[in-house]
Formats: sequence, C-alpha cells, structure tokens
Amino acid sequence: MRLGVNIDHIATIREARKTYEPDPVAATIICDLAGADGIVCHLREDRRHINDDDLKRIRETVKSHLNLEMAGSDEMVRIATKIKPEMVTLVPEKREELTTEGGLDVSTFKDHLRDIVFRLRSAGIKVSIFIDPDISQIKQCSNIEADLIEIHTGRYANAKTEHDIIEEFEKIKQAAIYAHKLGLGVSAGHGLNYHNVKDFVEIEEIEELNIGHSIISRAVLVGLDRAVREMIDLIK
Ligand code: PXP
Repeated sequence: MRLGVNIDHIATIREARKTYEPDPVAATIICDLAGADGIVCHLREDRRHINDDDLKRIRETVKSHLNLEMAGSDEMVRIATKIKPEMVTLVPEKREELTTEGGLDVSTFKDHLRDIVFRLRSAGIKVSIFIDPDISQIKQCSNIEADLIEIHTGRYANAKTEHDIIEEFEKIKQAAIYAHKLGLGVSAGHGLNYHNVKDFVEIEEIEELNIGHSIISRAVLVGLDRAVREMIDLIK
C-alpha cells in the first residue's frame, strides 16, 4: 500500500497570516524523507492554499511522485501540461465548499472529461478521477480511458452508526474490486485517519491512500511540545 501525503493544509496555515511560513516545500522535503510514496496538492481555482508558485517549487523538489489534484478546466490543463506532475487527479470543485465534498460526476460530464483525460495523457501525465464508490461512475472512467480512480472515502469516514459504517465500507470494497477487474488503478482517500485507516489495508485492490488533514493535524500536535520548548530556550 502506497501513501500519498496531501500537504494543502501547510499552505492553509500560511495563508491564515499571508506570510511565508510554514512553507509547503519544506513539508514536501520532510514527507519525502519520512518515506512517503508521493506528495499530493490541490491547486484550487481560488488559490485558497496552494498557489502557482508553490506548485512550481514543489514540482522542482519532489523526487518521488507528484499528484496534482485539480478541476477539469482549460486553465488547469494548461498549468498541468506545463508543470508535468506524474499524475493528475480530477476532482469536482465548488468555491463555497470547505473541502472536496463528493466524487466527480463522470457520467454527466463524460464528453468534456474524455477530452481533458486525452489532453493530459498525451502530455505523458497519468490521470486519476476522484469518484464516489459507484459502479456506473467506474464504468465511465474506464470508457473515457482514465488510468486510475480514487475512491472517495468521505461518506465512510463520516458514517456514525455501525450499520452505515459497514455499508459504506462494503461499497468501497466492491468498487475497488470492480475497478481493478476493468484494469483501472485504484486509490482511495478523504477523511482517513489514524483510527479508520487500518480497515483499508485488507482491500488488496487499493494500491494507494491519499491522506492530508489527519496527518497535518497530528503533526501540529506532536510537534507542539518541541516548538514550545525551543521558544522557551530562546527567551529564558
Ligand atoms: N483525495 C482527494 C481527491 C482530496 O480532495 C483530498 C482532500 O484534499 C484528499 C484525498 C485528502 O483528504 P483528507 O485531507 O481528508 O485526508
């Protein structure tokens, strides 16, 4: 199982003060050194966290694997074909959302997405599509010749009752098996954390998990003790 670390929240903290720290490029180096299989970042239309300069510098820094999450717009395709990440993950994007709230509706937008996938693949970039665990969406991803799918695990992560958790997990498992049979690569992500991630190890068809919020949240807390001690050392 590979791990892609989403570092958007490093830039989110920086943007809270519009300053220079923390730098997502420093985070990229640390994740690489810690053994992450890849770095994931999302260049949003509103540039609320990662910006164009970050993306350029992250590209120059990542030696492992860069997965750029982006909307399927002409602007983003232009940027991706210039920056050349190893992979693009196409995601739906709404300005008012806090984070990516659902999978892409490939069935409705298949003609547009087929063209986007073609343009990206022609530039030598692998294309993944972020979708809900839904068999008809998976079929469409195969039809439009995506390389991979990323299964949206958010509904599972947010499920509250035992019944809903089991039901959502089963959907993800069946989706992974089906996509794998069609020859698609399979990854998964959204809302995964140090508690629920263990369940995914048993789904052999899932090759990669992409995790952001939980890792960055933990980093803030496990690093806080040292950060306070270092400041005390400076002023005492
Ligand atoms: N995969 C995709 C497509 C995402 O949009 C996100 C959030 O940016 C993630 C994975 C990571 O989700 P989380 O931050 O909840 O771990």
